[in-house]
Amino acid sequence: MAAYIVEDTKKLTTSKIIQMKKDGKKIAMLTAYDYTMAQIVDKAGMDIVLVGDSASNVMAGNLTTLPITIDEMIYHGRSVARGVKRAMVVCDMPFGTYQVSREEGIRNAVRMMAETGVDALKLEGGEEIIDTIRGIINAGIPVMGHLGLTPQSVYKFGGYGVRAKEEKEAAKLLRDAKLLEYAGCFSIVLEKIPATLTEQVCKTLSIPVLGIGAGIADGQVLVSPDMLGMNMGFRPKFLRQYAQLSDVIIDALGQYITDVKSCSFPNEAESY
Ligand code: KIV
Repeated sequence: MAAYIVEDTKKLTTSKIIQMKKDGKKIAMLTAYDYTMAQIVDKAGMDIVLVGDSASNVMAGNLTTLPITIDEMIYHGRSVARGVKRAMVVCDMPFGTYQVSREEGIRNAVRMMAETGVDALKLEGGEEIIDTIRGIINAGIPVMGHLGLTPQSVYKFGGYGVRAKEEKEAAKLLRDAKLLEYAGCFSIVLEKIPATLTEQVCKTLSIPVLGIGAGIADGQVLVSPDMLGMNMGFRPKFLRQYAQLSDVIIDALGQYITDVKSCSFPNEAESY
């Protein structure tokens, strides 16, 4: 399958991302965590590459996103930023780096931007962290919000179930979304909420809303190893798998093992 044809090859900025919503153009976002994958995702024509703290799960094998550190996210962010030419690169601020105080959040955000070379940061939460978000934006850093199932709060929620099904939580989410827009966020992610609520948020906000397990929005985001079928056994309802790379890789590796053991690799052409 060919890469998506991109007409404008210039670097995507926050204003271009916002303009896409105004023009009725959908936004495609995908995670990447390393240089090699970032180059491929960018070449495919992705609009935004997210250096998600899902790196904690899919790169490090942790059960949650909580253990990943700021140093580890800086390593992933820097690796991805080096591989991307066109897409906008957004990096997650990890758990514990912006919840304690506004000052600490701004300091950590400044450090992440300075040491990674990414274009923007993503933070989970609404009203509770709105002063911190304002402070980070005032420091000149673009911020993407994240509401609904915010995985850094998994222990508060008691699991990874759908959020905002009840009216009270849905009303708070809508309020939080407006607060994030008013604070200056250039976009928000809505994770695992009812599709009707996403539709309402998309209509209310002028900034783009990117959904994951949230129905139709101004764009979508998925976790790359999940959508490429590398994360064996992980099949939530919202996930569409575009490839079965684990099968492809296992076949290739099996062939390599056979070739090594049968001495058919390396051959003469592969030797010096
Ligand atoms: O960490 C991540 O990959 C994310 C996406 C699921 C939105 O936050």
